[in-house]
Amino acid sequence: NSASDSGTGARGLWSSKFAFILAATGSAVGLGNIWKFPYVTGENGGGAFVLVYLLCIFIVGIPIMMAEVFIGRNGRHNPITSFKLVAERNLASPAWRISAIIGMLAAFIILSFYSVIGGWAASYIGHAAMGDFTGGTADSVGELFGGLLASPAKLLIWHTIFMALVVFVVSRGLKGGLERAVTILMPALLVLLLILVGYATTTGHFGEAVSFLFTPDFSALSVKGVLVALGHAFFTLSLGMAIMMAYGSYLSRDVSIGRTAITVGIMDTVVALLAGLAIFPLVFANGLQASEGPGLIFVTLPLAFGNMPMGGLFGTLFFILLLFAAWTSGISLLEPVVEWVEEKTEFARTGSAVLVGGLCWALGIASILSLNVWSGFAPLGMFEAFEGKTIFDLLDYFTANIMLPLSGLLTALFVGWFVAKESLRSDLTMQEGSFALWYNLIRYVTPVAVAIVFVYSLIG
Ligand code: PHE
Ligand code: NA
Repeated sequence: NSASDSGTGARGLWSSKFAFILAATGSAVGLGNIWKFPYVTGENGGGAFVLVYLLCIFIVGIPIMMAEVFIGRNGRHNPITSFKLVAERNLASPAWRISAIIGMLAAFIILSFYSVIGGWAASYIGHAAMGDFTGGTADSVGELFGGLLASPAKLLIWHTIFMALVVFVVSRGLKGGLERAVTILMPALLVLLLILVGYATTTGHFGEAVSFLFTPDFSALSVKGVLVALGHAFFTLSLGMAIMMAYGSYLSRDVSIGRTAITVGIMDTVVALLAGLAIFPLVFANGLQASEGPGLIFVTLPLAFGNMPMGGLFGTLFFILLLFAAWTSGISLLEPVVEWVEEKTEFARTGSAVLVGGLCWALGIASILSLNVWSGFAPLGMFEAFEGKTIFDLLDYFTANIMLPLSGLLTALFVGWFVAKESLRSDLTMQEGSFALWYNLIRYVTPVAVAIVFVYSLIG
């Protein structure tokens, strides 16, 4: 690697800018793209929502991603240490690293239940392949999903398998683990997605899906819709979880942070739009509901596949796609904490990955039990706002609505107001006009936008 990367020690770098782009896109592309984006678009005015969402990606998402990658690459350590080093270099308080601490804690908690959902995807591959959905009815497919959620043993097995896949990759390190996994999984994911879009064109309802997604109906777009777009821009790009800091810590100094962040933002959006084009034609062809929420992927879609020619094959491919998307996201959730443990303790890479993954796996059991044995247990039920919320619901609520926006807000304020402009200019390597635009966004627009979403999610 180039001379300017000397001093990065034995920690290694991504072999190329593309390896970083694939890994960051692998993190970004997940259930948010394949499941959530299509249905929130449907609920919020289709094309009008897509336009607002794109704006949010550009004025909030990409600027924060650039700030996170900057901190990681400038610090060249785990996110907490990197934050501290960047603060010290800029004569700011090392206390700013609370942003990375919140983000990493959120990553750890999110992985604990993300792994449970990743396990659902894994289990559905087998169901689809064995024809369990073939000729299915709403009742039979609903029962299958209900049966999975009701069984702690089944959930535990799949959660364990998913977590093992994630730990396996992370334990093998940057090049032999993360990089190898994303260079296989991401192209495979794209090919599967294109095959499924092709399949969707044969249903005769493709045009309906296109107009559902792209016809702007501004009357269906509410203030709430704008806030949903903003919140989703944050989640979909995996921000506020120290992930881009961890991945940025392995990025060569030759690479333009600005251009790569824009590429990742665009790829994530393209995958979300393609997912909509793959899913909605099937849903419409079977006369099913588009705005089904969680059930869309695990009930509605299997029902659609079960009643279509070659649905067994394409259904299997779909759930493989979903597993790959969840797997690369799971890897990115584990990496920041493992990087930290590896640097801070005597444990080597494998030991760190097994330790953190094991603890995370144990925490995941609480989410599993929330779906069945503990489904009536609401630990914070004495507060009106948390009535009926299980442990699973609470972990999801506190991470998504409080920890991520808070971490993102602190990162934007720190980079925008406490890091020397010259240091940013030389690290981001953008054209002067683009840099000035980014600098104004991260100082003024991004923090205000995130603060609005944050306050809204607290009171709304
Ligand atoms: N960005 C992912 C998605 O859109 C979600 C995710 C969040 C993944 C955090 C990893 C970490 O689905
Ligand atoms: Na995403």
